[in-house]
Amino acid sequence: MRELEKPDLGQFLSSLEVVAMRKKHLDQVMDIERRAYPNPWTRSVFESELSQGVTRSYIVALHSRAVTGYCGTLYIIDEAHITNIAVDPDWQRMHIGTLLMSEIVRRAWNRNIQAITLEVRVSNFKAQRLYQRFGFQPAGIRKGYYQENNEDALIMWAYDIDSGEYHERIKNIEAQAGIPVESRRRRRHLWG
Ligand SMILES: CC(C)(COP(=O)(O)OP(=O)(O)OC[C@H]1O[C@@H](n2cnc3c(N)ncnc32)[C@H](O)[C@@H]1OP(=O)(O)O)[C@@H](O)C(=O)NCCC(=O)NCCS
Repeated sequence: MRELEKPDLGQFLSSLEVVAMRKKHLDQVMDIERRAYPNPWTRSVFESELSQGVTRSYIVALHSRAVTGYCGTLYIIDEAHITNIAVDPDWQRMHIGTLLMSEIVRRAWNRNIQAITLEVRVSNFKAQRLYQRFGFQPAGIRKGYYQENNEDALIMWAYDIDSGEYHERIKNIEAQAGIPVESRRRRRHLWG
């Protein structure tokens, strides 16, 4: 577990690069996936997702070329569905999840997406807290969605993400998390 003081955390976050996930990242992604989830995706699921072109957006947060976390999104017309988000257990609680979520939202803005949804285990309170911060609200239950233990999934939605109010919300989250403005500019440049 890495414990960094606040100023160092800001430096750490600004040192991260967020780039599109590529096949070359999959060894590291799979290592995190196996440690982060009780029922990890297989490598072939990631490969299939990466082959789906513009209907998907998979990103990784790199620290000195090491993958620290990743997130995937599926786009359906003007809605986005977050399919996967995980941070290396050794790097959790350092705002990498927040950084990934803010990037997903910024990408959604570029595509004129109006609403974002996801499923989360009803027992996964730490992820739910992260999503609530981003304005996601519970909208229903999928019974027995997680087959290995028959756990229910909570369906969450964030609506009106193109509103001025939501833009302010994201700017505040980024400021509070210490995500530096110059780092956001650098990432936009990297993504074109
Ligand atoms: C959920 C996950 C992606 C969060 O990543 P992270 O980088 O640790 O998250 P952040 O540091 O940005 O934390 C953001 C907020 O989430 C909540 N949170 C994150 N970890 C938490 C924990 N261990 N306990 C309580 N709240 C937690 C807090 O509200 C936190 O804000 P704070 O630190 O200011 O209190 C990470 O815990 C993870 O990979 N979990 C395993 C995979 C998973 O469950 N993915 C979600 C599937 S739906």
